[in-house]
Amino acid sequence: MNLRAAVADALERSWTPYGYAVPHPGRYPHQWLWDSAFHALVWAALGDERAVQELASSLRHQGPSGFVPHVSYDADPELHAAFWGRVGTSSITQPPMYGHAAAELLRRGFDVPEGVVAGAVAGVRFLLHGRRRVGGLVPVLHPWESGADDSPRWDDWFRPLDDPAVRYERKGELVASLEHGSDGAAIGNPSFAVGSAGFNGLVAFNARELAEVTGDERLGADAEELAEALDARWDADRHTWVDSGPSADGSGRIRTLDALLPALVSSRPLPAALWSPAGHGTAFGPSGVHVGEPSYDPGTYWRGSAWPQLTYLLAVAADRGGDAAGAARLRVALSAGATASGLAEHWDAETGAALGAVPQSWTGLAIVEPAPRPATRRAS
Ligand code: GLC
Repeated sequence: MNLRAAVADALERSWTPYGYAVPHPGRYPHQWLWDSAFHALVWAALGDERAVQELASSLRHQGPSGFVPHVSYDADPELHAAFWGRVGTSSITQPPMYGHAAAELLRRGFDVPEGVVAGAVAGVRFLLHGRRRVGGLVPVLHPWESGADDSPRWDDWFRPLDDPAVRYERKGELVASLEHGSDGAAIGNPSFAVGSAGFNGLVAFNARELAEVTGDERLGADAEELAEALDARWDADRHTWVDSGPSADGSGRIRTLDALLPALVSSRPLPAALWSPAGHGTAFGPSGVHVGEPSYDPGTYWRGSAWPQLTYLLAVAADRGGDAAGAARLRVALSAGATASGLAEHWDAETGAALGAVPQSWTGLAIVEPAPRPATRRAS
């Protein structure tokens, strides 16, 4: 397979008249927030100006508070309106990867409009200041906000675990209990407020990225403050970052791959378990869950399969930590899995067999190399 050509073809087929690529035209025919940020990076690697268009489109439903909804239903705005309590979009968010995307596009010399950068800053600021912190961390108010939908980290809320109906119903209940601000932003949830280590790693990282390219010192200070709060969540015995909130002594300690995302802003090296066959080091990994966890299942959605966007992010973490060999190893693993699975949404961590949608647009991350840093500051 010519990976670059396959990626270009997949994105082209997923492009919509609304100015973005969908994750997959059949299975995911709407816009998802963090997917679009990843797509922007892929368009940029292809040298295609749609990078800027897709990034801008992902922020167009942003509210005055800065909140950005995680799904947009442009082709059918009434779809799921009763479920979300609003027309056209969902009422929760997803990791603010638009910060990293904006920074990388600027570093690559794309002309990102001032308003788009300002929107990205406002989105990250909303997360930093618009929700009551839980143990010093920004809460996710629904499992879907983490992007890691069925991660074992949420198991405390979904018992019995083997009943799909429980999972489905409970997720609906957790949407119904959301509290919203005046612009519809999700700002609280009495039934679910979790300081997800992975999500907070991404909030701090995206804040740091935007601070770096804009020179916004206050945002930079906020990023460092959150990175310090995360550092206090490191568990030296389990070698993971532990969530804050109600699951801190339960499922919030399970060793998942997304829980290693604080490495993006930490001075700690990536844990050795990432590479070990007794940890996440499966043939087509890193696996989404540590193989020593009872919940580990290499072929199941969010329970152990390999996810391209997580591997990409950990490669960036390795780069930022000065671990060039680790970053190269992760990029090789990402290309191998993407190729073996035909650009699948995710794949079996042990066999590379495709799982979920094929081809999935975000798997194009397999062709993305980091842009040179330090960035030139934007002229103001
Ligand atoms: C699934 C994933 C989520 C992603 C969406 C679209 O719901 O869990 O992270 O954004 O698919 O690809």
